[in-house]
Amino acid sequence: MKKNKILLLGSGELGKEFVIAAQRLGQYVIAVDRYLGAPAMHVADESFAIDMQNEEQLSQIIADHSPDYIVPEIEAINTELLKKIEKLGAVVVPSANAVNLTMDRKGIRKLSSETLGIRTSKFAFATSLEELQSASHSVGFPAVIKPTMSSSGKGQSTVHSYDELSTAWEKAINESRGKSAEVIMEEFIHFSSEITLLTISQKNGEVLFCPPIGHTQRSGDYVESWQPHPMSEEFLHQAQQMAKTVVTALTGFGIWGVEFFLTENEVIFSELSPRPHDTGMVTLAGTQTLNEFELHLRAILGIPIPKIELIRKGASAVILASETSDYEPLFTNIEKALEIPNSSVFIFKKPSTRKNRRMAVAVVHEGPNEKVEINNLVKKANEVASLVELEYKK
Ligand SMILES: Nc1ncnc2c1ncn2[C@@H]1O[C@H](COP(=O)(O)OP(=O)(O)OP(=O)(O)O)[C@@H](O)[C@H]1O
Ligand SMILES: [Mg+2]
Repeated sequence: MKKNKILLLGSGELGKEFVIAAQRLGQYVIAVDRYLGAPAMHVADESFAIDMQNEEQLSQIIADHSPDYIVPEIEAINTELLKKIEKLGAVVVPSANAVNLTMDRKGIRKLSSETLGIRTSKFAFATSLEELQSASHSVGFPAVIKPTMSSSGKGQSTVHSYDELSTAWEKAINESRGKSAEVIMEEFIHFSSEITLLTISQKNGEVLFCPPIGHTQRSGDYVESWQPHPMSEEFLHQAQQMAKTVVTALTGFGIWGVEFFLTENEVIFSELSPRPHDTGMVTLAGTQTLNEFELHLRAILGIPIPKIELIRKGASAVILASETSDYEPLFTNIEKALEIPNSSVFIFKKPSTRKNRRMAVAVVHEGPNEKVEINNLVKKANEVASLVELEYKK
């Protein structure tokens, strides 16, 4: 197999596990982020800190290294440039078109709902408070207001009445990424659960699916996930069909984290990531034949992916920082946490903290002859996570 040069744009914890998968298959990885010492840089061959929105800096790094593949790990990159680069022959994963459409809630809503007819929540876009107020007549209350450009729940708020629109507008605009001054107003879905359906687009082969992952979010950020999520065959089939339709239209190769809300009688498409998904870290518990990072790599390089099967149940729980510090924290009580059978802790080694920054994840899995309820596994993952303590240096 060729030793490919992979340029990873964004070097967080998901990037780190992707680099480990790539290293194991003998690839060469250059990790890039806005700061040095980012998680994926600890395991990459080379690392650079640049502003990934800056066209000049991004072009320079691509010109200097001529990578075979450009693998974005975050949304905040100069996607117009990626489109140009793709035209010059570099492979952007999954495709420049997909990266471009998914970085912005507008692109993906228009494609999924308007072009493909996929079931989503009711929605409307607004570029001023007045437009938002008039959008509220069609969307109704309660509703969720989000910047069109944001992730991890940033700038997001739930509104229950007309009077709350102006505060929500301000929040969305202030916390929006980039120069965009546009928001989406989405009908609030009273879901009974939400899932991520990891979906794989292959170069030579059909679209594949992983067993569904259930998750809980707090303030728009994931706090725990589990696999498999118990759901009916019919709902699973519906989710798979929608996922397949959307990823096929987006084009490209790699793994996608396709998010759905499940209500009593419906499956509703929410959004998707054109890369491994944070809730998919549960696959690090050995829940399936290949974890989400190995699957991403195989799909990119065109390596065969035998049938993806569930090996055992698993759960994950995040470990967040509670303070801000310019130093890497010390993790203590790990010995106590790992006394719990079938548990592991993945520490990202981020060089600084801020309140609620994700610093590590605890994962647990079912033992070889054990039959556990998925809820109990989730509790166990949280128990492991809560035993881990962080000490901050000032
Ligand atoms: N229309 C909605 N109705 C009910 N809950 C919602 C709605 N939209 C978002 N949420 C809740 O907020 C969470 C985050 O929303 P969403 O995934 O759209 O934001 P995000 O900023 O892209 O987050 P991430 O980048 O972490 O995926 C959802 O997982 C869900 O729990
Ligand atoms: Mg999401």
